[in-house]
Parts: sequence; C-alpha cells; structure tokens
Amino acid sequence: MINIILLGPPGAGKGTQARKLVEERGMIQLSTGDMLRAAMGSGSEMGKKVADVMSRGELVTDEIVIGLIEEQIKTAGGNGFIFDGFPRTLPQADALGQLLARNGASLNAVIEMRVDDAALVRRITGRFTCGNCGEVYHDETKPTKVEGTCDECGSHDLKRRADDNAESLKTRLMEYYKKTSPLIGYYYAQGDLFGVDGLAEIDEVARQMAEILDQQA
Ligand code: AP5
Repeated sequence: MINIILLGPPGAGKGTQARKLVEERGMIQLSTGDMLRAAMGSGSEMGKKVADVMSRGELVTDEIVIGLIEEQIKTAGGNGFIFDGFPRTLPQADALGQLLARNGASLNAVIEMRVDDAALVRRITGRFTCGNCGEVYHDETKPTKVEGTCDECGSHDLKRRADDNAESLKTRLMEYYKKTSPLIGYYYAQGDLFGVDGLAEIDEVARQMAEILDQQA
C-alpha cells in the first residue's frame, strides 16, 4: 500500500493525475477541494460556511479540512491514498503525519508538480469538468470527443468552477506561495520529496509519476 501527496499550485494537474492513478492502480483519491464542493452542493452548514471563502480563493480553516481527511482515513480501504490538495499548511502536514501514524500507516512520497504561473492561468481558464463523474477537461488540451458530452459517462452536465476566474486565481496563487510552498522544504527535510515536470503532456507526467511510485513498491 502506497500513500502519496500531490503537491502543486492550482492547475498544476493534481486532479488529472490523481484520477489516472485511481483508474490504473486502484488507489483512493482524497481531494479536500472535491469534499468541500460536495459539502457546498449538499447545502450543509459546513458547506454554507466555506462557500464565500472558497469563491474568493482563500484557504478554509485547518480544523475543517483535517476533520474531513480524518473521517476518510478511518473509513476508506483500498490500495493506498492519494492526498490531492491536502495538506496545504504546516499544521495540516503535521496533522496528516499523526493521523497516518495513528492508523498504522505512513507516507511514501510527496510529488511536487512543477509548473509556471503563465501555464496555470491558461489551464484554469480553459478547464471544465463533468458534474456526473468528475472527469476533468480543457478547452484546448483535453476537449471532449463530442462537444457537450462527457467521454467517460456520456453526461451532458459539463461545468466550470466558480473559483476558476482571474481574480480568485490570483488569490489562490498567493495562498499557495505563502502557505503551501513551505511544505516543499518540510518534506524535503523528511526525505520524502520527489518532483515531476508538470508542464509536460498529461501522459508524460503520468509516466514520471509511475517511475516514482514503482520505486516505492
Ligand atoms: P482545490 O479543489 O484543491 O483546487 P486547487 O488546488 O486550486 O487545484 P485545482 O483543482 O484548481 O487544480 P489541479 O492541480 O487539480 O489541476 P487539474 O488536474 O484540474 O481547492 C479549491 C479550494 O478549496 C481552495 O482554493 C480552498 O479554498 C479550498 N481548499 C481545498 N483544500 C484545502 C485545504 N487542504 N486547506 C484549506 N483550504 C482548502 O488541471 C487543470 C486544467 O489543466 C484541466 O483543464 C486539465 O485538463 C489541464 N491539464 C492538467 N494537466 C495538464 C498537462 N500536463 N498539460 C496540459 N493540460 C493539463
């Protein structure tokens, strides 16, 4: 069982690669962003509480996201976890280490997806996803085969995220550089850090990731 973190700014390709790993290796994707959007969609109290913060592109509190991850680690089985968008702060990283240890597990690799800001803007502004199965697309680099129809499940419910606009993206990038990028040094010091070229094509990024994962097996 391999547990990994995908670390990178908004649009680095974390979700895209996580979905491939789920499909190819039977791992479990734990995306705090998806969990928070599901809470908003369900109209729960917590969902209402985080909606404004998320649409502005700021981080929600450590307490909320640590709670979400704790619940999943306890209940989910499978072939290892892919932490996608978590941890994003040093307290979250400490909490994850403790949660894994308490469940008799540990972290195998933290994969930093290296990209540049210009590419991120293009990726975020061209992104749309399937509201039914969650498949991620892009207007230019990964369009659907038939316009308006998901390749994976045939749904016509294709949508764009409320925080995928230039203003929120600016804040999301600032949050990443201020609060999340210190985790690169944190995991480097632990000897867990690996890097992939996030600017490469989707299949090439996946190949670089597979190489790292196979070293851990
Ligand atoms: P979250 O949902 O985690 O979003 P994010 O980190 O901003 O990352 P994205 O989902 O935008 O990008 P991605 O790296 O997954 O890229 P993707 O694969 O889609 O978080 C949203 C919000 O929730 C946060 O702002 C915060 O408010 C809150 N939140 C979540 N977790 C939190 C936490 N732990 N603590 C506090 N707050 C939290 O790819 C993007 C596009 O590029 C797609 O169109 C894709 O097709 C395309 N693409 C991908 N790879 C390639 C490639 N190699 N070449 C060309 N195109 C590519």
